[in-house]
Amino acid sequence: MLFPQLIKANLKTHYIGREIEYFQRLESTNLEAIELIESGSVGNGTVVITDQQFKGKGRQGRPWFSSPGKSVTFSIILQAKMPTEQIGLLSIATSVATAKSVEKFGLSPSLKWPNDIYLLGKKCGGILVQTRVSRTDITWAVIGIGINVNERTEELSDELQTTATTLIENKGTPLQRELVIAWILNSLEPTINQLTMGKSTTVREAWLTRCAHLNQTITFSENGQKKNGIFTGITESGAAVIALDGIKTTLSGEEISISI
Ligand code: BTN
Repeated sequence: MLFPQLIKANLKTHYIGREIEYFQRLESTNLEAIELIESGSVGNGTVVITDQQFKGKGRQGRPWFSSPGKSVTFSIILQAKMPTEQIGLLSIATSVATAKSVEKFGLSPSLKWPNDIYLLGKKCGGILVQTRVSRTDITWAVIGIGINVNERTEELSDELQTTATTLIENKGTPLQRELVIAWILNSLEPTINQLTMGKSTTVREAWLTRCAHLNQTITFSENGQKKNGIFTGITESGAAVIALDGIKTTLSGEEISISI
């Protein structure tokens, strides 16, 4: 059982997480967040949380698995005015905020572009950002965060047991999920405020220092074709800069996903 009051008691934010919509069971917190926005019943910074997400969505149409009472699955609703070019930075900012929260538990996560959280080479968390845009600005953004927290490896699906890990497996003792959430929200809010003021340098640097594959060869597929390149950094809008035969190309998270 998750206690929204315990999240609130640990918040240092002004608007993110001040309203929490808690559901015992939900298909997807992102889906619920979008429905709430469209019904006009929620404001900027509202957080949608569930203890049992049964049809979670991952990037590029993949499913996201979570364990009732053990994982963390939630979505943040943003309705601040932001240029559409900044959509990619929302994943970058949220990855950094998630890494900082995990670090507060004494762990050392690394980040894979654009939105994966890793511990010792295995994925423990992911982020799915969905947006509605007008011609120039983001009308709303839903930032969904999924983290494997207190599940043991054997509780993950067979397929995930080799590629994924959990926070408890790395720490050795259970983590308080409300704190994981509150600490993410606490570090995300000031970063979002910076982004709305057009300042992205600090968050991009914080992401690069935690990047698991900076200046390393990565594989990605473009138009169905597998390619190898060197990941050399991210642009001001959070896109990947990849050197292919010495020529730098910029690719967004919608266009490609990479393997390391
Ligand atoms: C990925 O790595 O592919 C992204 C996974 C994002 C999962 C989270 S869990 C909370 C929110 N609700 C969803 O349906 N998906 C995101």
